[in-house]
Amino acid sequence: MTEHIKIKQDDAILEIIFARPEKKNALSNAMYRAATEALGAAQSNQTIRVVLFGAEGDAFTAGNDLADFANAAAGKGEGLAAHDFIEALGRADKPIVAAVPGLAVGVGTTMLLHCDLVYLAETAKLSTPFVNLALVPEAASSMLLPARIGHVRAFAMFALGDGLSAAEAVALGLANRVLPKNAVLTAAREAARTLATRPLGAIVATKKLMRDRERILRRMDEEAAIFAQRLQTDEAREALKAFAERRQPDFTRLAS
Ligand code: COA
Repeated sequence: MTEHIKIKQDDAILEIIFARPEKKNALSNAMYRAATEALGAAQSNQTIRVVLFGAEGDAFTAGNDLADFANAAAGKGEGLAAHDFIEALGRADKPIVAAVPGLAVGVGTTMLLHCDLVYLAETAKLSTPFVNLALVPEAASSMLLPARIGHVRAFAMFALGDGLSAAEAVALGLANRVLPKNAVLTAAREAARTLATRPLGAIVATKKLMRDRERILRRMDEEAAIFAQRLQTDEAREALKAFAERRQPDFTRLAS
């Protein structure tokens, strides 16, 4: 277990809170494992009707812990726990609500594509700069993001690292509402409480009809295989080394 994920059941709502604000809630392997376990347990626990993701501090999450990526790239450590979390999101049949208090980078944004109601703080910014790290999109976002916002916008997010403001994200259908930062969690909890009063069987059936789960899971696996290969490239090693050394990466001398 890790103190960087806080899990709390409030009546029928299971809250999974990212609690590593000093690192912008970057998701370590231990955090992924705790969140995956909670998400899985929520599916089988009859008393839980809604899952709510939130975060402490001023960021939702800065994405995967880049030190874990660097270890995986160097063949050190225990491998990456992100994929199990992503797959659990893909498999989840109960409704998921997200309260996003600020920056959502990488998986912070791609996981929102698997949430059913999303509330953003005015200061939130969504970005998926996988190519900046010489990596590829995950969480089926290579399929889901272009489907939601169109190819060219999604490509600019993936390849140029362009971000979306909270207002843009709502206008593009990626989130429900923009709220003052201190009202986001309250709004998400209210929505979760309302959902919890609805007939769960009908909600689960509706969510199932709205998503092609098998296709999503297949794409997640395809992405994960390419992601793992990309991590072993000189490009990714340079990107991760540059982040650790607090400098801009230089890819110009590397062949494709
Ligand atoms: N993995 C590990 N540590 C991270 C992190 C990540 N993804 N994102 C931030 N941190 C750490 C920083 O190293 C820093 O640690 P330190 O105080 O020990 O030096 C701390 O969190 C605060 O981050 P900092 O960069 O100082 O804050 P900022 O407000 O200037 O910038 C970000 C915030 C998120 C824009 C910047 O940290 C960033 O670009 N992070 C990487 C995001 C990323 O590429 N994620 C993966 C996407 S696939």
